[in-house]
Amino acid sequence: MAEVINGKKFAEEITEKIKMETAKLMESHGVRPGLAVIVIGDDPASQIYVSSKNREAEKCGFSSITYRPEADICEDNLIHLIQELNGNPFIHGILVQLPLPDHIRTEAVIQAISPNKDVDGFHCINVGKLVTGAHDGFIPCTPAGSMIMIRRIHGDDLSGLDVVIVGRSNIVGKPIASLLLAANATITIAHSGTSELPDVVRSADILVVAIGRPEMIKGAWIKPGATVIDVGINRVPALKNSKKPTRLVGDVEFEMASIVAKNITPVPGGVGPMTIAMLMVNTLKAAYRSAGVVPPIFH
Ligand code: GUN
Repeated sequence: MAEVINGKKFAEEITEKIKMETAKLMESHGVRPGLAVIVIGDDPASQIYVSSKNREAEKCGFSSITYRPEADICEDNLIHLIQELNGNPFIHGILVQLPLPDHIRTEAVIQAISPNKDVDGFHCINVGKLVTGAHDGFIPCTPAGSMIMIRRIHGDDLSGLDVVIVGRSNIVGKPIASLLLAANATITIAHSGTSELPDVVRSADILVVAIGRPEMIKGAWIKPGATVIDVGINRVPALKNSKKPTRLVGDVEFEMASIVAKNITPVPGGVGPMTIAMLMVNTLKAAYRSAGVVPPIFH
């Protein structure tokens, strides 16, 4: 049976370190890290993510403010709000919760955020820094959190290990490929156009899945002894006899996969808490940089 990777516990350790480093920055420079989150409309999943980001920011000792424009806000007004936050010295990190309504161009909004405050790491400047290996940008939160878990299991050098990433999004698949490559892993990126997916998955020493399809990756596809990082969070109808109407599952069939894998992240309690912790790390980094101080390293 696989060891279940306790993302919640890792995230709590990171939060403790963030609290300490926040107190240091306050004491030395009088700077309290400030995070602004913008969430548009009333998508229930986005609302849940945003409240947990706020709660975590407060736990870390940050100031945090949430903007909730109506779903019909026009792109110009949204960009105007972002420009104001770009110029606000008390705000070090800006996050626009995705997805955005169809009438707003996601790319235009992301590129309006100052690269120095882009704590999601989605701005072209930060994407470029990640791909070229510069260390003064921001790494997207889910890939950064997943890499910490992978490093705890396999160490810093992934030479000789075959990694399969299922999913090619800008949020997870592409950035985690850059990080894994920088750690010397051999990478395959599979997606909806990949043929013989079960065979591709079976070649993975480390499998990272971010496709947003409940339990699509079957336990029988997984190489015995593999490490499985399941990024998916999908709400599905509850099992019979449950009091709750729904439950959360990942993109991997957890029960069957746990029989063959050596390490596996659960859903919930795996990648999710690490993602939020890494958002706080990025906000702390932004605040340190704004004060002209080299930020602490989190591994
Ligand atoms: N929606 C789903 N994941 C993310 C994320 O990492 N950042 C933002 N801003 N929106 C998301």
